[in-house]
Amino acid sequence: MIDLTSVSEIFAFLNREDGFRLLSMASLGPGFFPESRLVVRRRVDESTRSIHVHTDVRSPKIAQLQTDPRLTLLFYDPATRIQVRCRAVASIHIEDGIAHDAWLSIAPLNRVMYAAVESPGQMVEDHPPMPAIPEEDDLVAFRHFAVIVCYLTEMDVLELTADQNRRALLRWTGSGWESAKLAP
Ligand SMILES: Cc1cc2nc3c(=O)[nH]c(=O)nc-3n(C[C@H](O)[C@H](O)[C@H](O)COP(=O)(O)O)c2cc1C
Repeated sequence: MIDLTSVSEIFAFLNREDGFRLLSMASLGPGFFPESRLVVRRRVDESTRSIHVHTDVRSPKIAQLQTDPRLTLLFYDPATRIQVRCRAVASIHIEDGIAHDAWLSIAPLNRVMYAAVESPGQMVEDHPPMPAIPEEDDLVAFRHFAVIVCYLTEMDVLELTADQNRRALLRWTGSGWESAKLAP
């Protein structure tokens, strides 16, 4: 049984190979309309309280986060029936060291969308074909690539079980984490 009030256990849980690969990321869109979308968890780092996500710089979420960097990340693991709802602040990395290291670390097939001529969400006459896989040194594709580093400030953890539902809130104070048990 996992200790819901333990920051290390929750970070280790979010980093599990067999779960939580997909998460919902919500930002504030135009007119303060909440916008959520599925993204892939690329990296979890407890020491910097961060979760890394890759995206296309031309996707609307980048402009949204440049206007307001606040995010909600939502994880759910059906095997354990644990939900983790995180508040975070985004830092966007384009054409810097973090973006370059991440670019080199991803499989060639995962670079393909960044080679698209059309911007994500752009209106098109017909569904465009898949672009060719760009080489590592393809600068045009690399310039479309961004790493969103989400610095967590809060984790609201809920576990549903047959005999007891448990919930905890972990909050970053600026110098450390504090935790409290909550009624589910
Ligand atoms: C299974 C799945 C995984 C996805 N992973 C990512 C991802 O890692 N990064 C990303 O930017 N979009 C990802 N998407 C697409 C987003 O959900 C979204 O449609 C796209 O990023 C445009 O979002 P935006 O218009 O809010 O910027 C994924 C979609 C699905 C269905």
